[in-house]
Formats: sequence, C-alpha cells, structure tokens
Amino acid sequence: MKNKKKNIKIAIDSPAAAGAGTLAKSISKHYNLLYLDTGKIYRMIAYLKISQKKRYNMSFIKKKIKKLNIKELQNKKLLSDEVGTEASIIAKNNILRKLVHSFQINCAYNPPKKFNGSCLDGRDITYKIIPDADFKFFITANINIRAQRRFDELRKLKKRISFAEVLKSIKKRDKSDYNRNISPLKKTRDSVLINTSNLSKRACFLKIKNIIDKKINN
Ligand code: C5P
Repeated sequence: MKNKKKNIKIAIDSPAAAGAGTLAKSISKHYNLLYLDTGKIYRMIAYLKISQKKRYNMSFIKKKIKKLNIKELQNKKLLSDEVGTEASIIAKNNILRKLVHSFQINCAYNPPKKFNGSCLDGRDITYKIIPDADFKFFITANINIRAQRRFDELRKLKKRISFAEVLKSIKKRDKSDYNRNISPLKKTRDSVLINTSNLSKRACFLKIKNIIDKKINN
C-alpha cells in the first residue's frame, strides 16, 4: 500500500501578499516537504534584469536557472517592491516561463530523498506545474489587508515606501497577474479557497493541516 505520508505534493496559488508564503513555509516544515516559493525565481530574474542590464538575455537566464540553488532565493534584495513589479512584467514572457517551469517541475516531482514531498506556491502551480497535486489551495485576502501586510514587511526591511504606494502597486500587480494571457492567476475548481483576511497565521495553518490530515490519516 502506498504510504500516504510520503510523496505528498501541495500546490498553492495566490495573489501578492495574501500570506501564502508564510503558510506554505509552516506547512512544509510540519510535513517535512521541500518548499519552493516560485515567485522568488521570477524575482531573481527581474533582479538580474535590473542589476545586470547589459548581460541580460535568454541564454544568460538559461545558464542562471541551470545552476540555481534554492538557497540563493533567500536573498533579501529580491523582496523590494521594484523587483516585485519587474517580476510581474518579465513573468509574461512565455520563453522565460518555459525555462522556469522545468526547474519548478523538477522540485515538485523529484525533491531530495530527505523530504516527504514538495509544496510550491505561485500563480500557476495548481493547473500548470502540479496539475495532479494531492492538495490544492487558493489563498487570498482583502486587498487593503494584503497591502498593509506588505507595507509592514517592507518597513521591517527599512524600505522607504508609503502605504498608498504599496496599495497601488499591489492593485497593479493583481490586474496584471489575473488578466495576462499566459499562465494567469486563477482559482481552479479543485482548489480549496482560504481567505486569510480575518484569520491568524495559526488559524490558517490549522485549517490547512486539518484538510491534509483528514486525507493522509485515513
Ligand atoms: O509571489 P511574488 O509576489 O513574489 O511573485 C512576483 C511576481 O512573479 C508575481 O506578481 C507574478 O507576476 C510572478 N509569478 C508568476 N508565476 C508564479 C509566481 C510568480 O507569474 N508561479
């Protein structure tokens, strides 16, 4: 019989600053899953575009992705609003998405043996990267709450930005992510909707944990 606690694949999609990253991280830790924040890959490429303008082209990106180590994605420089905005622009390029997809698919389906599976979050994970995921979630929250959370995060990182600017930038990013032709953000019919607006981090975690436990303990 297949061990239900092994080879678990969790797919999460969410708009910007909905709390998906925090949740995915705690769920991954709890079930010992490889966690990949796929937005960070687009952010890394956006950062290369901003910081290495002259070298930036598809073969440069291809080489970078080939050598990519998940740890590099923890670079704090990737968290700025400027990088996030640029990420949503370059994320519309289909050739670039294909390069990034193979990295993501490999993480999802072939995590290192020490893990019990994988958990990826992004915009097209539930229907493009892991369409056969064991668990699918769409995590969202009210736009003002998302902007407030992102504003608090950026302030902690000592970024000089106003709440109004953050709100505007998130609205712009939503518009672009939901309406683009390639890999738009959407909630698939088989994803469980979690609205984190009025829930604590712990309450969100327990909501997801209950759903997972019900299935793997049965
Ligand atoms: O999740 P995060 O806000 O860091 O993502 C930055 C941008 O990268 C998103 O606004 C989106 O345009 C893009 N992205 C994407 N597909 C993913 C993850 C992120 O297009 N799977």
